[in-house]
Amino acid sequence: STALAQDASRFAFSPIAAQTDFTVHVPEGYEWKTVASWGDPLFSDAPAFDPQTGTTVEGQARASARTPTAWSYFRSTAARSRTTNTPISTSTCRRTTRGAPVSEADVRKIQDAQGVAVFEVAEGENGWEIVVDSPYNRRITHNTPMRLTGPAAGHDLLKTEADPSGTEALGTFNNCGAGRTPWGTCLTCEENFNGYFGSTDAEFERPEGFDRYGIELESGYDYEKFDPRFDISKTPNEPNRAGYVVEIDPSDASSTPVKRTALGRFKHENAEVTLAADNRVVVYLGDDERGEFLYRYVSDDAYVEGGDTSGLLDAGQLYVAKFNEDGSGEWLALTPEATGMDRAMIHIHTRQAASAVGATTMDRPEWVAVNPLRVEAYCALTNNKNRAVKPNAGGDETPVGGPNPRAENNYGQIVRWRPEGEDHAAEGFAWDLYVMAGNPEVQDGAYAGSDNVTPGNMFNSPDGMKFDSQGMLWIQTDGDDSNEGDFAGMGNNQMLVGDPETGEIARFMTGPGGSEVTGATFSSDKKTMFVGIQHPMNFPDPEALPRSSIVAIRRTDGAVIG
Ligand code: FEO
Ligand code: CA
Ligand code: CA
Repeated sequence: STALAQDASRFAFSPIAAQTDFTVHVPEGYEWKTVASWGDPLFSDAPAFDPQTGTTVEGQARASARTPTAWSYFRSTAARSRTTNTPISTSTCRRTTRGAPVSEADVRKIQDAQGVAVFEVAEGENGWEIVVDSPYNRRITHNTPMRLTGPAAGHDLLKTEADPSGTEALGTFNNCGAGRTPWGTCLTCEENFNGYFGSTDAEFERPEGFDRYGIELESGYDYEKFDPRFDISKTPNEPNRAGYVVEIDPSDASSTPVKRTALGRFKHENAEVTLAADNRVVVYLGDDERGEFLYRYVSDDAYVEGGDTSGLLDAGQLYVAKFNEDGSGEWLALTPEATGMDRAMIHIHTRQAASAVGATTMDRPEWVAVNPLRVEAYCALTNNKNRAVKPNAGGDETPVGGPNPRAENNYGQIVRWRPEGEDHAAEGFAWDLYVMAGNPEVQDGAYAGSDNVTPGNMFNSPDGMKFDSQGMLWIQTDGDDSNEGDFAGMGNNQMLVGDPETGEIARFMTGPGGSEVTGATFSSDKKTMFVGIQHPMNFPDPEALPRSSIVAIRRTDGAVIG
């Protein structure tokens, strides 16, 4: 009966309809509020954000970053009160200004608007707000000093005139998803770093390997015209110092971020950290590009609470996933024997190493999320709109099959795997598709989607994912929000909740038109969920510049949400 079906559902809300407007919607019994937007000052000496013109050159380095993609919520070990003093980090994904820079000052402002913001939020009379001047607040930009560690650190290909050691880099780039470690640090992931580099010499012959990473003579930002560090004809090794996972200690604003080369070099989406059966650290990593791969890192040593964690993301083995047609799969170790490359080169040309062992090309691996209640993991394969065209020279063929079953994949799917022996460090796994997105209203067959896709919950391009403490999977989308043709009825980008046990999926939230909904985390008491609204067209203030924002969602009765 209906009553029984409702009892059986683990959703604590009534699903909402698709929307096409320019604001946020949540179910009845929930409320949302903007917590922070691009340009909000983190320090009282920063100029206030001008709603018409944005930030000043001087102000941007002291203000919130432009486009929050992902953040993690950390209980501070030095918290001054129990639940409210908690640093949040935000990171940025997209380019920041319209038009090209015309001066060195322009370049500096763009560089300062990107990277990571670490700041404290507290819940007061007006809900959650930034704690201006908190000792945790800091900006990490394209020029912040950081260390390079792990197998690639110090290699000749990482040395520059400014850093002959090959171990001291400046800045972190195109920070996409995040991760958090059991020891309380934040991992930020360098995604489309290639776009920052270009050449002022049109005849410059690019070094080997640049093609595979999409590092071209033309950049996306024109930094190279004003900053020789980004000019590959002058500083050809600089791009080799980007494309990594960067570890940040949010509890110490004076700490030096660390680029962990052991986690591989590619267009990192997020870094989902869990523990193996023997407490070794396991990190799942997607490379978000058509036809690239899904990776796993396993540390050599086990994590011990309160023990020395400094080497756990430096000494370990990187693997790449191979999915078989029969629902089995295996992690292929990227070793010198298997790849024919030395250890450092595996961690500089990681994509080439993965090709050498025959990994499975994927439909753009975005976020990985690990179920806290069962030994399994999920990866959003966002879409693959253009299978016939290879993304980058040197990439592998991208045949249809396995977890990538559709030739023209505009909708995306979520693959999940269960490691053998309930151990995230196991060599083998069993996989299936949790959902294949589609449109049952206008499509037939595979393009209508899997059985758990209905006219009431349809969506495209799953991207951000996060499990809550109840073992429910929050799914965020970054896709076509035209609401027309193949996408009719899907409306704006959105956030849904999936039940891993039943496969049921329900729409929880819709974002404002033009935006991507991305990044999710919960307050320590699980009563607030923080969600990112990235690159909106007309939000939060329709009369002013659109600003990427973080919103807080709560139940109006104050009960736990996740
Ligand atoms: Fe920044 Fe692949 O998303
Ligand atoms: Ca993404
Ligand atoms: Ca995306």
